[in-house]
Amino acid sequence: MNRSVGIIGAGTMGAGIAQVAAVAGHRVLIADAMPGAADRAVAGIRDRVKAQVAKGRLSVDPDELDLTAADSADALSGCGIVIEAIVEDLAAKRALFAELETVVDADAILASNTSSLSPTALAAGLTHPGRLVGLHFFNPVPAMKLVEVISGLATDPKVADAAAELAAAWGKTVVRSTATPGFIVNRIARPYYAEAWRIHEERATVPEAIDAVLTGAGGFRMGPFALMDLIGHDVNEAVTRSVWSAFGHDPRFAPSLAQRALVEAGWFGRKSGRGVYPGDGAPAPSPA
Ligand code: NAI
Repeated sequence: MNRSVGIIGAGTMGAGIAQVAAVAGHRVLIADAMPGAADRAVAGIRDRVKAQVAKGRLSVDPDELDLTAADSADALSGCGIVIEAIVEDLAAKRALFAELETVVDADAILASNTSSLSPTALAAGLTHPGRLVGLHFFNPVPAMKLVEVISGLATDPKVADAAAELAAAWGKTVVRSTATPGFIVNRIARPYYAEAWRIHEERATVPEAIDAVLTGAGGFRMGPFALMDLIGHDVNEAVTRSVWSAFGHDPRFAPSLAQRALVEAGWFGRKSGRGVYPGDGAPAPSPA
């Protein structure tokens, strides 16, 4: 695989993946449909890497990172792999992959960072569906070790192997899965988030208390509500709906009305300035 890595979608995850690839020495091109978003992602990555270098956690020259903001998907034509991290929407991702297939070389890999959509379905309309694989990073990408490599029905095993080798070379711990709804982590995580919402909606206790129990006594780094504020409620709820739908609306995976209210309000979490918790860390008024 050639060393150029294309990233499309320069939000939270795309920027994180681009950072990891650039620090590993790849030429990285990052594109986004929103004007200015890729430039902001590149500037943010350089700032974060500088901060890591200042703390002695990284030894790279931030100005030497080979990182370019691209203005469209066309600019990703020479990449050996393009990793997609756009909105969690099947139609949007399918349309993008169809476009990318007309842009990249015949042997280029197309990877999706989808949290919950099936790589089998994502690849269905492609001329070469074997080249598409799920490559699921976790947030924040530079800090989180785990990566799921997900093979759809048509995924060429060599493509899955190459994606797994790449993630391992970036210092990640790789787990392989087939395209079952939610894969491994999000299958297990859905009932975890759902139960936290239920406890809150039943007014048994407040989100701060649930988070404190899970971190203080449960050994989790973050409680479920703080984690959902980090992930983004728009993203988290879309994943829940996708898994719920894939399992025939099994009540175990049912979405929360309280979380729906947050999404409707635009209270997505940290990226929008407030979620379950506002910016100052004080409890938000209960949406339940
Ligand atoms: P985000 O909302 O921060 O960023 C998405 C970016 O994609 C935005 O900058 C948007 O302008 C851009 N975009 C949307 N449609 C586009 C298109 N057609 N072409 C080019 N750019 C487009 O979202 P985030 O959180 O980075 O998530 C991206 C993907 O990663 C989703 O599939 C999500 O499920 C997945 N994911 C998210 C995680 C999280 O914790 N936020 C964790 C693991 C996976």
